[in-house]
Amino acid sequence: MTPTELPAWQQLASLATKLRDASLPDLIANDARNQRLRLEVAGCTFDYSKQRVDGAVLDGLLALASARRVLERAGGMLRGDIVNPTENRPALHSALRHGAPEAGDDIKRDVADVQRRMHQFAQATRSGEWRGYTNKSITDVVHIGIGGSHLGPQLVVKALAGYKTTGLNVHFVANIDAADLQAALRGLNPETTLFIVVSKSFATLETQVNAATARSWFLERTTSPEAIAQHFIGVTTNLTAAVEFGMSESNLFPLWDWVGGRFSLWSAVGLPILLSIGTDNFNALMAGAAEVDHHFASAPAQENVPLLSALLATWNYNFLGAASLAVLPYDERLALLPDYLQQLEMESNGKSVNLAGEPVETHTMPILWGGTGTRGQHAYHQLLHQGTRAFTADFIVVATDSRDALEHHNWLLANALAQSQAMAQGHSTPDAPHKAVAGNHATTTIVLNELGPRQLGALLAVYEHKVFCQGAIWDINSFDQWGVELGKQLAVPIYAKLAQDDALDTGSQEQQDAATQNLISHIRMTRAKKTGA
Ligand code: F6P
Repeated sequence: MTPTELPAWQQLASLATKLRDASLPDLIANDARNQRLRLEVAGCTFDYSKQRVDGAVLDGLLALASARRVLERAGGMLRGDIVNPTENRPALHSALRHGAPEAGDDIKRDVADVQRRMHQFAQATRSGEWRGYTNKSITDVVHIGIGGSHLGPQLVVKALAGYKTTGLNVHFVANIDAADLQAALRGLNPETTLFIVVSKSFATLETQVNAATARSWFLERTTSPEAIAQHFIGVTTNLTAAVEFGMSESNLFPLWDWVGGRFSLWSAVGLPILLSIGTDNFNALMAGAAEVDHHFASAPAQENVPLLSALLATWNYNFLGAASLAVLPYDERLALLPDYLQQLEMESNGKSVNLAGEPVETHTMPILWGGTGTRGQHAYHQLLHQGTRAFTADFIVVATDSRDALEHHNWLLANALAQSQAMAQGHSTPDAPHKAVAGNHATTTIVLNELGPRQLGALLAVYEHKVFCQGAIWDINSFDQWGVELGKQLAVPIYAKLAQDDALDTGSQEQQDAATQNLISHIRMTRAKKTGA
């Protein structure tokens, strides 16, 4: 049965017509309800009391989860069932977390082996025991990777900068725009720089080009090809390609096809995290995520945070018409969270066929966007308060001040709470309609006790499992991403025309549509004029 054919779906649709007109302020006035809508896991409180739900809606959502067998299917994912049928793979990122319950013995052994090597390597680099080719210790690490091989590590390294226990500087390069690599390399000494090339496939264009340019930069300055192995290490499933690049097999950290790129920060992809925050903090990050894995596997549906987060997101989007999900961290350390979640949620659940390959009958993942508060209040919040489209938002705040700046922190949190209150309550000004704020916008507030490794690991794992639950509700494959392939293929012949590279150019005019051909001609003519060619 497709989701929309389920009685639970139809019942929710009829409840939605009632709830759409219901007053959110009236719902919030019932504090017994609010108390029931607050859940806690691993130092993170999920407060859903500003959601537009009553008891009947919650029952309906739980009935939908039960009809879709979401938690049973989650158990299957955690045990290693094939949940990615188009690539015939399980999704076992939870097996990477310490104490993850369900992984098989061979997987546990492989994971333990790579983790032991990661910790040894990180320790050697941090302590100065790992030396560059002129016998100097490493001062700078340049992480080259994109998408899932970049967003998670950069988010965590930035968010946990206060937990840094090393003098190593970690730089990230993702974009094929040379500005990214050039900025990272500026001022670096090749003798004391270590490159980590992270690519599950070791075939991604951006990473291939950036790694090759970084190698040229290194060779131009050192004229020492034999030093490559000491200064370039790799994280990949494609060990052969990494060795061909010049890396030594002993400096490669394997990945497995059962780790999806956007779920991979817990694997050796997270090496920069380990290098930056050290073993104890890295273990705490893993432990926070593992706490959520246990919770997800064992908490009853009505108390299950990832499941409820997914159900409420589905309610807002499929039933109440919220056009987008805004992720609004009120903490500069979490500035990269919206970027990270864009890949996690939109690459996972932006799909239009179901698991049987048939067109879906419902909308799937909405646009996720966002940015830090209070900056956004002086930019796009105007639209949130007085625009015409429905939306929902996740506010993320940290309860305790760790910067010894309580006045700032109180203002920061006051603003976060004021914004969600304004979104819920609105404000009527009959004599001045331009000042009226409609309100009635449902939001969730996530309160971290503190922003430590445990809480961050837990927060990210909740979002990961939310993705699985929404995929199960929509009956789609959350673990493939075929939609990104077409653009990659089309770029090759366009590159050939721009670079006038006959080897890549098949000469066929049909490769580009007329509009694209015009743009190529325009760019080539503009370049010719500039160079006088
Ligand atoms: O193009 C999308 C994608 O495949 C992501 O899913 C992935 O995280 C990213 O590219 C990088 O891939 P890789 O780790 O193989 O370089």
